[in-house]
Amino acid sequence: MNPLLSVQDLHVDAPGEGRSILRGVHLTLDAGETVGVLGTSGSGKTTLALALLNLLPPALRARGRVEFEGHDLRTLNHAALCAVRGRRCAMVFQEPLTALNPRQRVGAQVAEVATAHGEHDAARAMRSAIDLLGRTGLTDPGERAQRFPHQLSGGERQRVLLAMALLLDPALLIADEPTSALDVTVQAQVLQLLREQQRARGMALLLVSHDLGVLATTCRRLLVLHGGRIVEDAPTPQLLAAPVHPHARALVDTVRPAERRA
Ligand SMILES: Nc1ncnc2c1ncn2[C@@H]1O[C@H](COP(=O)(O)OP(=O)(O)OP(=O)(O)O)[C@@H](O)[C@H]1O
Ligand SMILES: [Mg+2]
Repeated sequence: MNPLLSVQDLHVDAPGEGRSILRGVHLTLDAGETVGVLGTSGSGKTTLALALLNLLPPALRARGRVEFEGHDLRTLNHAALCAVRGRRCAMVFQEPLTALNPRQRVGAQVAEVATAHGEHDAARAMRSAIDLLGRTGLTDPGERAQRFPHQLSGGERQRVLLAMALLLDPALLIADEPTSALDVTVQAQVLQLLREQQRARGMALLLVSHDLGVLATTCRRLLVLHGGRIVEDAPTPQLLAAPVHPHARALVDTVRPAERRA
C-alpha cells in the first residue's frame, strides 16, 4: 500500500539570508498512523508543517516532493490544493489567536468551514458547528459559540481550532504545537481529545512539538528534527529506550523517568 504522505528530499531555503532551514527531509506516514516530530526551538518544525501544505511565507523557497494521496502537493494548481487543504488534510496552527478572526464569533467561524465545504443551509452549518464544539469537550457550546475569540480561554480557543480542523473528517491532521501555550491540566485534556478523535476517525496525525512527553503519549512513531534534518525515525518505545543520534539521546535524557518507561 502506498503511504498517505510521502516527503522526499524536501529543502527549504531563505534566499534573502543565504541560509537553509530544511535540508533534505524524508518522511512517510501511513493512513491512520500517529507520528510525532520532535525538535528544539528553531529546528524547523513549523517550516516543515507549512511546507507540507505549500503555506510557506514568500521569503522562503521549497524544493523536493510532497506526495499526499498520490498527488504532488508542490505542483498542484491553487484550486486543487485548496480542495486538499481542509478537506483531506487539515492543520491546527501554532498560534490559536492568529488563526482565528478576532471580529467574528467563533461559532460562525466554525460554521463557515462547513459552508465553505458544501453545507449550503446556514442553520444546519451552525448546528453542526455547535455539535462538534460540544464533542470537543467545550462546556455549553451554544453559549461559547456566541463569543469572540478574545472572550475564550486559550484551551477553549484551541478546541475551536480543533473543531474547525475535525469538521471535515480529514485523512490527515497536522497539528503544530497545539498544546504548548496551555497549562498542564488543559494540555492533558486537549491531548486526550486529540487521541480520542484520532482513534475514532482512524485519521493519521502528524503532531509537531518540542515536548517529548506530549509526543510520547500520543504518537506511535517519532521523528527527531535537528538543524533542518531528520536525525532519527523510530517507534516511540524504541526511541525512548535506545536513542541513537546524540541529539535524540540528549532530548530523551530530559524527560522524566516515568515517561521513559512509557
Ligand atoms: N520567513 C522566514 N525568513 C527567514 N527565516 C525564517 C523564516 N521563518 C522561519 N525562519 C527560520 O527558520 C528556522 C526554523 O524556524 P521554525 O519556525 O520552523 O522553527 P520551529 O522548530 O517551529 O521553532 P519553535 O519551536 O520555536 O516554534 C529558524 O531559525 C527561523 O528563524
Ligand atoms: Mg514552531
